Amino acid sequence: MGSPRVGAVGGITELAAYYAEPPEGVRVNMIFSADGAAAFGGRAGPLSCPTDQQLLTTLRGFADVVLVGAGTARAENYGPVRLSEAQRAGRHAEGRPEPPPIAVISRSGDLPSRLFDEPDRPPILLTCAQAVARLRDDRHWRMFVAGEDSVDVTRALDLLREHGMRRVLCEGGPTLLDELVDADAVAEICVTLAPSLAASQPVGRRLPSRLPAPVTMRLEHALVCDEYLYLKYRR
Ligand SMILES: NC(=O)c1ccc[n+]([C@@H]2O[C@H](COP(=O)([O-])OP(=O)(O)OC[C@H]3O[C@@H](n4cnc5c(N)ncnc54)[C@H](OP(=O)(O)O)[C@@H]3O)[C@@H](O)[C@H]2O)c1
Repeated sequence: MGSPRVGAVGGITELAAYYAEPPEGVRVNMIFSADGAAAFGGRAGPLSCPTDQQLLTTLRGFADVVLVGAGTARAENYGPVRLSEAQRAGRHAEGRPEPPPIAVISRSGDLPSRLFDEPDRPPILLTCAQAVARLRDDRHWRMFVAGEDSVDVTRALDLLREHGMRRVLCEGGPTLLDELVDADAVAEICVTLAPSLAASQPVGRRLPSRLPAPVTMRLEHALVCDEYLYLKYRR
């Protein structure tokens, strides 16, 4: 185990190299203001910058599936993942030419219509048994059922793995992140710290944690680019 890399990077090309080996399991990618807010006015965009946006796309290129809570899919109006030519070529060489699908955890099944823009690449709906009867039947999603009255995130991750999706990139939101942390399911967290203050920006319906103690993570790098701090921690 080496010491963490600490320093400055010139841009996304240099930064991306530090993320090229995703762990098996869940890699989370989130941005926070310097005072800990995950959104401003209900969106993450006001906290972000071009390099952080490029990092998001870069991380998608390394993943087998992109996992989000439905609150994020709705707030950020998610659509199918689109990768660059270079990313597609890289994946082709590894025998997985398609971009990763988006998997949304939801009880309501209320997903943005943009997610259905490419019918040959439908989103995955991770839902629970009690919700199935009430779901819209005109949506062409791949449905995985994990849990009875709410989605059991551990079971949901098992189902993704059973379908060959082992490298999971979770893009939030905070409610889903809480559940993954509570389930001890986070292998890595990539945090962008924005040079901004946002004060209280409540998101989701977050419940108190059941963790007996904070989960210890190991810092892998702390890299600065244009006053944004890029941190990566592994379990
Ligand atoms: N800073 C960042 O990096 C970042 C990243 C992502 C999002 N955000 C921001 O965070 C906000 C959205 O986050 P959020 O915490 O409100 O929502 P979220 O975690 O994205 O999604 C919450 C929703 O996911 C579904 N869900 C989660 N756990 C479930 C379970 N165990 N069983 C069944 N359904 C489950 C429910 O969907 P249904 O209601 O459909 O049943 C729930 O309402 C937005 O403002 C977004 O801009 C910030």
